[in-house]
Amino acid sequence: MAEALKLGIAGVGTVGGGVLQLIDKHWDKFKARAGRSLEVCAVSARDRHKKRSADISTYKWFDDPVVLATSDDIDVYVELIGGEEGVAKDSIEAALKAGKHVVTANKALLAHHGMALARLADENDVALNFEAAVAGAIPAIKTIQESLIANDITRVYGIMNGTCNYILTQMQKEGRNFDEVLQEAQDAGYAEADPTFDIGGYDTAHKLALLTTMAFGVETSLESIYVEGIEKITLADIEAADELGYRIKLLGVGLQTDSGIEQRVHPTMVPKNTPIAGVDGVTNCITFDGDFIGELVLIGAGAGASPTASSVVSDILDIAKGIIPPTFAWRTEDLVPYKRAPMRAHEGGYYIRLSVYDRPGAFAAIAASMADVGISLESIVQRLPESTMPGLDTLPHDGGPVPVDMITHRTTEAAVRKALQAIEKEGNVEEAPQMIRIIKL
Ligand code: HSE
Repeated sequence: MAEALKLGIAGVGTVGGGVLQLIDKHWDKFKARAGRSLEVCAVSARDRHKKRSADISTYKWFDDPVVLATSDDIDVYVELIGGEEGVAKDSIEAALKAGKHVVTANKALLAHHGMALARLADENDVALNFEAAVAGAIPAIKTIQESLIANDITRVYGIMNGTCNYILTQMQKEGRNFDEVLQEAQDAGYAEADPTFDIGGYDTAHKLALLTTMAFGVETSLESIYVEGIEKITLADIEAADELGYRIKLLGVGLQTDSGIEQRVHPTMVPKNTPIAGVDGVTNCITFDGDFIGELVLIGAGAGASPTASSVVSDILDIAKGIIPPTFAWRTEDLVPYKRAPMRAHEGGYYIRLSVYDRPGAFAAIAASMADVGISLESIVQRLPESTMPGLDTLPHDGGPVPVDMITHRTTEAAVRKALQAIEKEGNVEEAPQMIRIIKL
């Protein structure tokens, strides 16, 4: 009869506590489901005596996670410390070298060092599993590794950061401002320790880097990702998007193009009638386009103790079942070098908001700057102050700045940037233009 799989858990915070609670609740079912039961043998954390959601007093204690990682007491090292360097990295390396399987939720570490760690896992013939690193409970990793293994994936995109989605949702639904809602997300514990990781788009970039590698079979390339966060999104943008039939979401997008792979993270306007537009609050959504499946949309909890613990334990149970998948769904030696499609070659529609001095010739100059770079406008609307009835205003206007919303037909990033530079230079706008990309779904 197979012995219980022995676990060493490093990091007993929100996720680690959730893992211990889950194992405690469901331990009696694991043998029937995975062929082996699980036994937590040892733990390590920064503070042994801190008050926690789970009782750790019955487990063997290690002060140093690196020592735990190589201990004879364990078969699987579960790293839930976090951080892209330091003890998380040292302990995972030590565990892999010692022939221990590793399960981690550490997206930052894998996005930076995943290739080297995957090679180490290969050399030592052990698993390096990380379902919990991308979108909490959503089985994005296993979907690529298992369900879509027979497809060519052409695009992967989604909402991968609950904090940003929560902020954008609250701004849209309640008309509240950015700072107030961010504070609320921090208080609720969704945001990363440093919230600039969330709102600056870096947390999404870490997750996207992993999905891109797995979806397209290329080496991980975090530095190739174009990253723009949600800090500059205002209520005016959200209201304008609503009027035009869109919602604004922070998306991570990985796309195969003729000129290479596009990886980008930025606020995006998505049509209101699409599934992703209805994904609100801290919920995440990952979508795959595959050549034999068309579109596959996965929606679920992207963060939090229980959803993340569910993914961690599913990775542990794969090891119990004897399933050791290639770390990135392709044999590491078969991953090809990353070929980057330049962001300026990105093609799509754009929403542009200008604050234009309302005087003769301003529109003509703006339209000319667009035409000069071959941009065709789908719509252009000047918004009058609320008190003014269209057509009944006293003409000419006093020249004060008024908002102008434009939607372009399909064009390139290079053309849009050039046109906006020219518009700013002409002096008909009060402030730097706002530009939000529109995704074709
Ligand atoms: N800070 C992340 C989020 C948590 O807001 O989605 C999970 O990575």
